[in-house]
Amino acid sequence: MKYYGVIMPLLYRQDPLGILNGVKRIISFFIGLSRPFFRSGGSAQQRIMVHKSCALAAQTFMLSIAAEGFHSCPMEGFDEIRVKRALGLPRGAEINMIVSVGKGTEAGIWGPRFRVPNEEVIFER
Ligand SMILES: Cc1cc2nc3c(=O)[nH]c(=O)nc-3n(C[C@H](O)[C@H](O)[C@H](O)COP(=O)(O)O)c2cc1C
Repeated sequence: MKYYGVIMPLLYRQDPLGILNGVKRIISFFIGLSRPFFRSGGSAQQRIMVHKSCALAAQTFMLSIAAEGFHSCPMEGFDEIRVKRALGLPRGAEINMIVSVGKGTEAGIWGPRFRVPNEEVIFER
């Protein structure tokens, strides 16, 4: 844990030619031969990591806002180009999700609910 201040910036660091990613892959490959070790991937893996972190932050936000008596709705079905333009974000930016927040009504607007059965997504060993 005490190395996190060094490891995390290194893990997320990118260089234009992707050389650092190659080096990280090689290092994790060789260390991983002898013991369990985080397998470093390329920029796609980094994007996934960032999106996971953002999704957790979004969930924490939604739980917090619910504790304050508000309702929220996460959305990913939006026009990313127009939203980025409206927010003045760079073209290369990625939006994890949009969360609307407000006071829900008793009636609400409910569509048919679909839940994937637990057995399909939770596995025990
Ligand atoms: C990451 C994420 C993105 C979502 N994007 C959309 C969306 O773009 N449009 C939409 O109608 N619902 C979207 N949903 C689903 C709704 O936010 C919400 O979960 C849904 O209305 C069902 O509500 P329920 O989970 O209480 O059944 C998304 C859910 C998640 C977790």
